[in-house]
Amino acid sequence: MLCFRLHTSALLIFHLILLLIVASNGQQQQQQQLQLGFYSQSCPVAEVTVRVAVKQAVEADKSAAARLLRLSFHDCFVEGCDGSILLETSDGERQAPGNAGLGGFNVIETAKSRLESLCPGVVSCADILALAARDAVALSNGPNYDVPTGRRDGRVSSRSLANNLPDVNDPIEVLTSKFRAKGVSIKDFVLLSAGGHTIGTTACFFMPKRLYNFTGRSDSDPALNPQFLPQLKSKCPPGGNVNDRLALDWSSEFAFDDHILGNILNGSAVLASDARLVDDRGARQVLESYVGGSEKKTTSSFGADFAEAMVRMGNIEVKTGSQGEIRKICSKVN
Ligand code: HEM
Ligand SMILES: *[C@@H]1O[C@H](CO)[C@@H](O)[C@H](O)[C@H]1NC(C)=O
Ligand SMILES: *[C@@H]1O[C@H](CO)[C@@H](O)[C@H](O)[C@H]1NC(C)=O
Repeated sequence: MLCFRLHTSALLIFHLILLLIVASNGQQQQQQQLQLGFYSQSCPVAEVTVRVAVKQAVEADKSAAARLLRLSFHDCFVEGCDGSILLETSDGERQAPGNAGLGGFNVIETAKSRLESLCPGVVSCADILALAARDAVALSNGPNYDVPTGRRDGRVSSRSLANNLPDVNDPIEVLTSKFRAKGVSIKDFVLLSAGGHTIGTTACFFMPKRLYNFTGRSDSDPALNPQFLPQLKSKCPPGGNVNDRLALDWSSEFAFDDHILGNILNGSAVLASDARLVDDRGARQVLESYVGGSEKKTTSSFGADFAEAMVRMGNIEVKTGSQGEIRKICSKVN
């Protein structure tokens, strides 16, 4: 009898433990999910504070929008969307050549310092960056979309980790595999590259190989439209200033629109990596699906699909729950 009781209570305890394990696993899984309005209780002004900071920055300088969008991509591709790109260390991500020319840090820091006085220790730098990129797109006449939040800030930033960033001169196989390694589909890769480059500029620094020495024989990228090539060459002449800038989406650098799709398809992409998109059948089909063809889609569907791709990009290797930290200053770990 006693033995039986012991046995049942042992069984009960065993089941209880099992339940606890299952429950805590469930909780852990829940923690890994970002959610819409994560700060609605803890800091209701979080999103509007970011929006105001971005709006002020863009009003002062229209090119701020593109800088913020690029910054969030470069954050997500190294150590996940954890604000690691914001850390200032002597041998950190920011020193990597692939991160040359990044900007917008001051906008994130401004939003952060305002949020630290409104709700100290609550809103992560990683979330501020994801929200700022969203606001930058919206303020460039792009789609408005919701961004799930709840990211935690990473504590690691290293120059060598940034080696997996796509390089402007990578062949298409390398580009697609770098995106695949981050769980990005070919469709999202095209949407993110083309959508990302519908606003903003590049420094001539990234152009010489494509314009003057494509295969090492003083030639140009044969994919370049012969009508477009002289225009590009005149913007970035040989021996010219590598810091001169030119629009990525020729003639519509401040507006989120779908011009870039046609430009890429007719050999008028500015960046070599955008030009490479037509070298892959699947990528090319994605581009074509938005311009002409029998099932013509609209600019708004390009925008909506880009927004969905941005939300998925914002999920790359995020830290949540008790991982990472909420930084006090975005450029330094606590
Ligand atoms: C194949 C992948 C990609 C490559 C090789 C690439 C490369 C580049 C390069 C070389 C520049 C010029 C940077 C400068 O001179 O300041 C640039 C600018 C830019 N990129 Fe990308 N990019 C890629 C994907 C993306 C993605 C996925 C996004 C965002 C969704 C994005 C957003 C931007 C923006 C907004 C700019 C303009 C920055 C400015 O005006 O300051 N790029 N990109
Ligand atoms: C052109 O490319 C070749 C091979 O990559 C290199 O050896 C050469 O120095 C380059 N020329 C210039 C002018 O950059
Ligand atoms: C390429 O297409 C765009 C529109 O998508 C057009 O504005 C541009 O003039 C075209 N360029 C050439 C060289 O055909």
